[in-house]
Amino acid sequence: MRKKIAAGNWKMNLSAEEAQTLASEVVNMFQDEYTGDAEVIFSPSYPYLSLVHHLVKDNPKVHLAAQNIHQEEKGAYTGEVSAQMLTSIGCSHVLIGHSERRQYFAEDNQLLAKKIDIALKHGLKPVYCIGETLDQREAGETLNVNTTQLSEGAFHLDAEAFGDLVIAYEPVWAIGTGKTASPEQAQEVHKAIRDAIAAKYGAEVADNTTILYGGSVKPANAETLFSQPDIDGGLVGGASLKSRDFTDIIKAL
Ligand code: PGA
Repeated sequence: MRKKIAAGNWKMNLSAEEAQTLASEVVNMFQDEYTGDAEVIFSPSYPYLSLVHHLVKDNPKVHLAAQNIHQEEKGAYTGEVSAQMLTSIGCSHVLIGHSERRQYFAEDNQLLAKKIDIALKHGLKPVYCIGETLDQREAGETLNVNTTQLSEGAFHLDAEAFGDLVIAYEPVWAIGTGKTASPEQAQEVHKAIRDAIAAKYGAEVADNTTILYGGSVKPANAETLFSQPDIDGGLVGGASLKSRDFTDIIKAL
C-alpha cells in the first residue's frame, strides 16, 4: 500500500547514548506534534538496532530498518548480518542498494536482487535505493540508469512480492552535498520510476508503490519536494540526526 514515509538513515554515526536520545526525542515529538498519517523509519547502525527497537516498539507508526543485509541465510560470513538476525531483534525494514554500498562496497544490481530476495523471504520490507551519479546525469542517462537499477534489482519479483518494496530515488550527487534535486528534477525521475513499474506490473501496482526521495532533504526543502505528485516521502541522512529537523521533515508530510 502506498504510504507517506519519513525514513532516517543514520549511517555510521552516533554513540549508543546519542542514538537512544535521538530516537526518544523524535518519537516524543512525533506523538505530541503530528496528527497526520505518515510513518517513520529509523535506520541506525547494527549495534543500536535493539536499543532503538525498545524505544519504538509501542508505536505502530514507527519502524526499524537495518542499513544492510547479507544475501545468504547463514554460515561462515564473518562480520555479516542475516535477515533472520534482523527480524529476531525487531527490524521490519532494510535498506538495500544505498549508493554508499554500491560505491564503496561494489554492490551491483545482481547482488542487490539476491539481498531483496532474502529480505522478502524473511518478511523484511526492502527500501531499495537507486540513483544516478553527476556524470550520468550530465551525460543525459538519468532515466535510463534509474530504470535499469530498478529492473535489474527488483523486476524478477512477482507483483505481490514487489508490493512489499519501498523505492528510494537518491541522486548520488545530492547525497550529503547540500545540493538537492529541484522538485521538478525529482518529480521527473519519480514519474519515470512509476511509469516503469506500471509498464511491468500494471497501473494499480504502480499507484500503490511508495517512492521516497533522498539527497540533502532538510526542513527548508521538504515541503516543496513532498508536494510533488509522485514523491511519497523522504530518505533523510544528515538532517535525520537532529531530532528537531527530522520531526519538522515528518511534519512536512
Ligand atoms: P543526506 O543523505 O540526506 O545526508 O544527503 C541521504 C541518504 O544518503 O540517504
